[in-house]
Amino acid sequence: MNESGNLMQGLPQYPESLWRATSELPSFDRLAEDIQADVAVVGGGITGITTAYLLAKEGMDVVVLEAGKILNGATGFTTAKVTAQHGLIYHEFEKHFGAENARKYYEGNREAIEFIRDMVGEEEQECGLKLEDAYIYTEDERSLSKLEDELKTYEKLSIPGEWMDKLPLPIPIQGAIKMPGQYQFHPLQYMKRLTERFLKLGGRIYEYTTIDEQADTSGPVILQTTRGNHKITCNFAVSASHFPFYDGKGMYFARLHVERSYAIAVKPETAYPGGMYLSIDQPVRSLRSASYQGEDLVIVGGENHKTGKGISTYKHYENLELFAGKLLGAKEIPYRWSTQDLVTLDQLPYIGSLTPNEDKIFVATGFRKWGMTTSALAAHILADKVLQRKNRYAQLFSPSRFKVDPSLKTLVVQNAGVVKDFIAGKVDLKHTDPSKLGPGEAAIVRHNGQRAGAFKDEAGNLHMVDTTCTHMGCEVEWNEGERSWDCPCHGSRYTFDGEVLEGPAIEPLKKLNPDD
Ligand code: FES
Repeated sequence: MNESGNLMQGLPQYPESLWRATSELPSFDRLAEDIQADVAVVGGGITGITTAYLLAKEGMDVVVLEAGKILNGATGFTTAKVTAQHGLIYHEFEKHFGAENARKYYEGNREAIEFIRDMVGEEEQECGLKLEDAYIYTEDERSLSKLEDELKTYEKLSIPGEWMDKLPLPIPIQGAIKMPGQYQFHPLQYMKRLTERFLKLGGRIYEYTTIDEQADTSGPVILQTTRGNHKITCNFAVSASHFPFYDGKGMYFARLHVERSYAIAVKPETAYPGGMYLSIDQPVRSLRSASYQGEDLVIVGGENHKTGKGISTYKHYENLELFAGKLLGAKEIPYRWSTQDLVTLDQLPYIGSLTPNEDKIFVATGFRKWGMTTSALAAHILADKVLQRKNRYAQLFSPSRFKVDPSLKTLVVQNAGVVKDFIAGKVDLKHTDPSKLGPGEAAIVRHNGQRAGAFKDEAGNLHMVDTTCTHMGCEVEWNEGERSWDCPCHGSRYTFDGEVLEGPAIEPLKKLNPDD
């Protein structure tokens, strides 16, 4: 029993996303030869494949290169709300970018929603696309004025919104804003169909194909794989790989930070009234429904924190479990998962030319957990860039906007944050004796005078790695909930024995011999 008297069955032992578990995706070979294409898209998530599809539809020869399995990053682990209500943003955007640009942000996302809806209509997809109202709410009286300011901006910019004193859910709110006519869906069922359409148009996909962080742009763009050194020669390259695979002096490592968030899928005891909810308070709480094998589930998300900086990561799941149990009663929790996403200095994604002078390599990143809609918007901007067509949203999202934006100060502060993580990891003196680890436990230990990461598996074998991240040398920390070594600087993640799970790192952590 939990404190409210509701029976809870507990969390699954291992993380698994509801979306991944309920979809079968095609597999693709690793690239094993030199190839040519009009466009190479690096990153096989929702942004990469949607961009590839739009370009293939225009008759271009497009290849998608994915470092792992397609749709296995943020796309497979999202809460999949298809909405233009991205938290408390419109008032902030109006202040920073002006009313016209804040309105443009809304319109761009609204067009993205319509694109997704039309795609589903065309293909009659079984992707659970469902019309829902979206709500942001606060339980804290001190945050009421922020919500009121947000609604004033909605009214000024003619964004549909309505003040609510009560929610359909029994949450004791101080106030809420409803944005009607939004959607939720099953992101991987949707993307499965879109992938098939891309392939039908002659598109190519390679999995387990990591692209080196160097690119030759002197003539046609030449990319190179890290294993086997195969070359991809193309006219344009698109980085849709979360953290850009190639920096090109764009300083992306200093202009993005990484945030992790968590979700559980709950079989509730009480009927869910519909709607998609997001609190503006800390810790964040997010709710939406989903159906699974004919049964209704509720996805409860939140507990955002900077990667590598949380409390024990398992505790985040427990907090969500407790919240769900109190609110809805939790008969069972069949799935739990987490994801990480990149956040830009001014909260607005970077979409466009990698650097001001770059006209052959484009990037989309920093979606701040709103990748479902923003990916469709980004795909259109990027496709128009490649096709050299005008796009009315291109300037707003340009990665080079900082010349005219006062965020330079934030850049310095953010950069200092990375430097702080870099130094803090190096002088961290908490060390554990590896012999004291139980099965499934990990700790930072001292090995031959060096900081090392030790993990004891269920069979009692000790695995030891050098904790220096192979991207730019920060120190990784143990993520207990996901059983991974995570880097706080730019979000690289490694398995317990050091293999790369998520970039920007390409090389594994150095393995150490515990007996040395
Ligand atoms: Fe950049 Fe670790 S130093 S991800």
